[in-house]
Amino acid sequence: MTIKFLDLAAQDQEIEARLTPELASIREKTAYVGGASIAAFEKEFADYLGVRHVVGVSSGTDALRLTMLAMGIGPGDEVVTVPMTFIATVAAIVQTGARPAFVDIDPDTCNMSIPALLQFLDEARRSGRRIRAILPVHLYGLPAHMVELREIATKYGIKLIEDACQAHGAKINIEGRWVRAGALGDAACFSFYPGKNLGAWGDAGAIATNDDALARTVANLGDHGRISHYAHSAFGYNSRMDTVQAAVLRAKLERLDEWNEKRRRVAAHYRELLGRSGLRLPLEPEGFESSYHLFVVRTPKRDALRTAMLADQIQCGIHYPVPVHLQPACRDQGYRAGDFPVSESVADSVLSLPMHPHLRPQEVHRVATVVKGALAEL
Ligand SMILES: Cc1ncc(COP(=O)(O)O)c(C=O)c1O
Repeated sequence: MTIKFLDLAAQDQEIEARLTPELASIREKTAYVGGASIAAFEKEFADYLGVRHVVGVSSGTDALRLTMLAMGIGPGDEVVTVPMTFIATVAAIVQTGARPAFVDIDPDTCNMSIPALLQFLDEARRSGRRIRAILPVHLYGLPAHMVELREIATKYGIKLIEDACQAHGAKINIEGRWVRAGALGDAACFSFYPGKNLGAWGDAGAIATNDDALARTVANLGDHGRISHYAHSAFGYNSRMDTVQAAVLRAKLERLDEWNEKRRRVAAHYRELLGRSGLRLPLEPEGFESSYHLFVVRTPKRDALRTAMLADQIQCGIHYPVPVHLQPACRDQGYRAGDFPVSESVADSVLSLPMHPHLRPQEVHRVATVVKGALAEL
């Protein structure tokens, strides 16, 4: 029997009764763009995150792009991010006209390295470069070092934008209080791609912020720069969230904490079974709660292990095999192999094990048995 990497059908079964009447109402009203479901989702997700505003958009990539555009970031500017991410983080920067400035990751958390960032910002300041924002990624669901990042952003007078596309429901403890990813920066960007912890039935995304003006500008830019039905203050984009997606997200949001708790149980089970396997298991530092979007192990024998798992019908993934600075799309940005050694070595050794809320204990057991058996023979 195949062990699935994720199981969207199981999620749909759980929300069916809750979702069906709302979909019927959208259909009855033929209200396919805008409408009550969008406003309700934006309010419910803002309350969930503990922020003043959520603006629904059409994807995580557009959430990032619109946020930076609304902050006035563009040609001549630079935005600091990490090369160990999905390409969209960087694509969004490039699409504003700004340059992506990479700093390496921390080898333990795989998130933006604070010493590397400080070194980069000091050098950049001396050479008069226009660094406008820091864009950390909460990779695999583990929040980046946001307390330090906040201090640094404030010190340098630049914006802090969370790429929270993998971190729905993740938290950091700040002075005894748990704060969710999404409420930690000047703005945060979420993807609701179907496989995310909170996933739509297609593409969708959102921006979360406490900044009233930023929320207004993002909403305006994402809706053709519209200020009233026939008046437009800017040449904007068509980046609205679909009404049907908002209905799906409302139903799934009610389950998010429960599903994340189940992911945490799967992660704990993996840790118990694989603790002495020789694999490097994901770190969850004290005061951090990962959303466990992915459970990513590291081994120099990654490729052989992956082949063995696939032969045993266990689906697994690699997030990501090529850091963004080495992607062909990045060839004009002036980076080369060796520039970010930690990201490069992490990319060579990561393997994502099956991880979803409906993974059964016996399936986790089988994954661990196959992994340990394969490692013993490699
Ligand atoms: C870290 C990260 N950033 C950005 C994105 C882009 O989101 P979307 O696919 O919704 O455009 C994703 C989603 O895949 C992601 O994982």
